[in-house]
Amino acid sequence: MSKGFVLELKGISKIYNESSSDKLVIFKNINLNIKKSELIGIIAPSGTGKTSLLNICGLLDLPSCGEVRILNKNTKSLTIEMRNNIRKKYLGFVFQSSNLINEFNAIENVALSRIIKGYNFPDALDYAKKLLINVGLKNRLYNRPLQLSGGEKQRVAICRAIANDPYLLLADEPTGNLDNENSQLVFKLLTDLVKRKNVSALVATHNLDLIKKMDRVFCLTKNGFKEVK
Ligand SMILES: Nc1ncnc2c1ncn2[C@@H]1O[C@H](COP(=O)(O)OP(=O)(O)OP(=O)(O)O)[C@@H](O)[C@H]1O
Ligand SMILES: [Mg+2]
Repeated sequence: MSKGFVLELKGISKIYNESSSDKLVIFKNINLNIKKSELIGIIAPSGTGKTSLLNICGLLDLPSCGEVRILNKNTKSLTIEMRNNIRKKYLGFVFQSSNLINEFNAIENVALSRIIKGYNFPDALDYAKKLLINVGLKNRLYNRPLQLSGGEKQRVAICRAIANDPYLLLADEPTGNLDNENSQLVFKLLTDLVKRKNVSALVATHNLDLIKKMDRVFCLTKNGFKEVK
């Protein structure tokens, strides 16, 4: 692992419909550095651009201007294939609604991200099983997503996000669809895993309670991007 930052944003702006009359400036000039094992929160009102920013960090979208560096590498002029490679090797995603594959059971959903990274089937299945047991899903290993509760699905989604041993976990309102008790549980799991596995994480949330455990917190508003903790 390189010595520098896991993720660096330098002067990132996002403008939708840039060349038309309904041009929409979402944010401007965001700067952020994330170190190894750091847990960073982004708290912001709905519609201010959390998902847009996470998509840029995860190389799912391009900024209108500015530079995204992952593990000291500028991603600006990479081909789609190179960006996909960075994602499968170094990044993990947790979405608001778990986005699991309904035809696969819990183990298969988790194992898939490890298989895509290049591990063989038996290794990936074994690793997935251990991760799921670790988050209390020993009796749900062979359930498909439709046979799991919302909180259980999010726990599977977190296991999937870390099954490829990522350097950076990007979580977009990972507890957004859960009640308070399940939010606390899922969030604790996420933070424990991040610390135990030395992963860095960038977590967008509306939930003010959840930011207490973050190392640093930024607030994204129409007026800018400010460190608030
Ligand atoms: N592809 C797109 N084209 C045009 N506008 C978009 C696009 N994606 C998002 N937007 C707009 O950009 C703004 C920010 O959206 P975004 O989804 O990033 O916000 P958010 O902070 O994640 O909101 P929420 O908390 O509701 O998830 C919104 O006004 C949205 O309508
Ligand atoms: Mg969003």
